Amino acid sequence: MKKRSAPPQHIPMKRCHYCLLVFFILSFGAQWATAQSIVKNDQPGEKWWKEAVIYQLYPRSFQDSDGDGIGDLKGIISRLDYIKSLGIDALWLNPIYSSPNDDNGYDVSDYRNIMKDFGTMEDFEALLKGLHERGIKLIMDLVVNHSSDEHEWFKASRSSRTSPYRKYYHWWNAEQGKPPYRYSLFDINHDAWMYDSVTNAYYLHYFSRKQPDLNWEHPALRHEVYDIMKFWAGKGIDGFRLDAFQFAAKDTTFPMFPKNFEKNFTKYYAMQGNLHGYLQEMHKEVFSKFDVMSVSEGAGNSYEDAHNLVDAHRNELNMAYAFEGVDIPKQDGYSLLHFKEVFSRWDSAFAENGWLSIFLANHDQARLVSRFGNPDPAFRELSAKMLATFIMAMRGTPYVYYGDELGMTNAGFTKIEDYRDVSTQNEYKFQKANGGDLQKFMKRIQFESRDNGRTPFQWDTSPNAGFTTGKPWINVNPNHATINYAAQEKDPNSVLNYFRRLVKLRKDNRLLVYGNYTLLDKNNTNVYAFTRESGGEKMLILLNFSAATAQAATGLNQANFELVSSNYKTTVLPKKGTPIVLRPYEALVLKF
Ligand code: GLC
Repeated sequence: MKKRSAPPQHIPMKRCHYCLLVFFILSFGAQWATAQSIVKNDQPGEKWWKEAVIYQLYPRSFQDSDGDGIGDLKGIISRLDYIKSLGIDALWLNPIYSSPNDDNGYDVSDYRNIMKDFGTMEDFEALLKGLHERGIKLIMDLVVNHSSDEHEWFKASRSSRTSPYRKYYHWWNAEQGKPPYRYSLFDINHDAWMYDSVTNAYYLHYFSRKQPDLNWEHPALRHEVYDIMKFWAGKGIDGFRLDAFQFAAKDTTFPMFPKNFEKNFTKYYAMQGNLHGYLQEMHKEVFSKFDVMSVSEGAGNSYEDAHNLVDAHRNELNMAYAFEGVDIPKQDGYSLLHFKEVFSRWDSAFAENGWLSIFLANHDQARLVSRFGNPDPAFRELSAKMLATFIMAMRGTPYVYYGDELGMTNAGFTKIEDYRDVSTQNEYKFQKANGGDLQKFMKRIQFESRDNGRTPFQWDTSPNAGFTTGKPWINVNPNHATINYAAQEKDPNSVLNYFRRLVKLRKDNRLLVYGNYTLLDKNNTNVYAFTRESGGEKMLILLNFSAATAQAATGLNQANFELVSSNYKTTVLPKKGTPIVLRPYEALVLKF
């Protein structure tokens, strides 16, 4: 912002008319400038959402207040001081709207109401107020690729071919024959077309049968969505996370896709049709009018797709949320070289324009420490701290998933009845019906089911970990006896207290937000070494991703190193000329 010089203090009377004119111009100008600084949240440069650390909370599993075994808004309110104590800036809540919960709230039946299990609109207002009083912003999930089949729109749409709501969804009349195959991520047959006898037609659902896809080609539907967004923005929320939005636009002529297209379905599903047109319209209707940030879920198939979503001049969204990094670990492990290559490549693609989210976990993934770190008791704490260092030291907005600040691990349920997730349950049914290897499947979900990351927050050692006095909707991880908030709060070396220090480190050092990133020692298979640099200030981050000691060759002058942070109790820096040897999962932040 350009500085304006201060107006003169004493103005002679004879210049009064002129001065009134100047006064009006200046005051109008000032108002205009303020309005611009509010609405132009998406311009390049420094922004609160670039500097923020975002804490993602799965409301169903955080804190139950009424003993029904389901987390709720009052429960979250009772823990606001804890959330504040993390030092985070914004809270992203998974959906809290009315829903029959086929997919835990990602199937919305009323976008303007709160899910009964979670509370009331008064509870929501109290939560928002409590957050804002503590200086924390609220980001809401916006689930508008699809609704619930119990939404009034869908009920009307399915009732007759001539309903004014027919066009809100995608229908294929059965007299045209079977529609061209579309893959569904959650359906028990993987088939995204569901036959509905009421009107003798099929409807499209990329997710479960209870999540029919909305038809974004229909202007009335789009404007309903913008009104819903304005309703929440008007309540004072601070941002939207656009669920599965990359899939919202479709080629509604429904051409045949090649055989096995589902192996690479995002190529066929993401960024189709007029998606960018819809986002530009959403920007004009909503984002340009409110001080809200926006983040996409998924970033298409290329950097170009990702840039097209978020580059400021395009007036679409603020921040990309790309999956390539979070998708790296497989049951048999992952290669650090690959990990480094992916994160470095995305960083360089966004070095000049656009902005990225940095995350290693969310509600669609198993636990971070079980996938990227080492859940073995000997290494769990160290590796959880090391991964927290990575997230806080990269360029891009860090997202931290509830419980990862304690180093919570996979629950790894061994019985299918213990799983709640619709995608896990339906895939089990699919495997069973199609002669799949169920033992192998169970092993796979023990490692990767989303339910691993959805077990209740571990507050203490009591039977349900302090989450509920009732029967939890999903089992608590038995390791809450050792991994819990109460114990970690008291221990200055806990994962929790380390996490708080790292958040503070990022907040205190703008170079960790905006500074340039450079990868060092690229071919090192165990150590991730990189620098962040801005205006002559420099930091080196050294992360040992292995359970063995490992050497790092940075090529930097060690004589200048000054220790900023370490995940070990004591650290002695190596002398000049001696190699840097990192202990298992050691994480060092150094100034130089
Ligand atoms: C997104 C959500 C996921 C949900 C799906 C359908 O991928 O993150 O949890 O199941 O969309 O809404």
